[in-house]
Amino acid sequence: MEAKLYTRLGLESGKLLDAGAGSGYVAMYMARKGFDVQAIDTTLHHLKDAQENVKANRLQGKVAVSYGDYHNLSAFPAASFDGIYTMETFVHADDPNKVLKNFYCLLKPGGVLVLHDADFSRNSDNAAPHTRRQVQHRPETAIDD
Ligand SMILES: C[S@@+](CC[C@H](N)C(=O)[O-])C[C@H]1O[C@@H](n2cnc3c(N)ncnc32)[C@H](O)[C@@H]1O
Repeated sequence: MEAKLYTRLGLESGKLLDAGAGSGYVAMYMARKGFDVQAIDTTLHHLKDAQENVKANRLQGKVAVSYGDYHNLSAFPAASFDGIYTMETFVHADDPNKVLKNFYCLLKPGGVLVLHDADFSRNSDNAAPHTRRQVQHRPETAIDD
């Protein structure tokens, strides 16, 4: 799935935010593709796993892991990421609109957001298809309440 996410991002380099990074495997995949990745998560044992995995794979210079809730991303400067993605994580949002606004603020103009979540509603009997949403930051576009 990370390969599809990478393709959807359509970027070759830059800084990415992995929002809800879990144990860090997707962030490490992106780091190996050449990106600098800021990985955030709210679950402490996932953060610990991610930090250990990043260290074990000697990717500390490419992946930064820190506590972060995508409902409050004020720790990061506006327009500081070339790309933002979620992998199986956006579905957990309590306030999806607020999260999308936060992502929008953090994207550089022209930056890319990819949300990758399983869609179990389409067919509950078989392997669940996945929906992927990719949008591009355009300064003239606003997200309404
Ligand atoms: C199903 S896991 C996916 C982890 C990782 N993206 C992957 O694909 O391996 C969902 C992750 O989202 C994190 N999460 C849930 N709510 C979050 C929030 N508000 N902000 C940041 N991360 C959150 C959880 O702690 C968990 O690690």
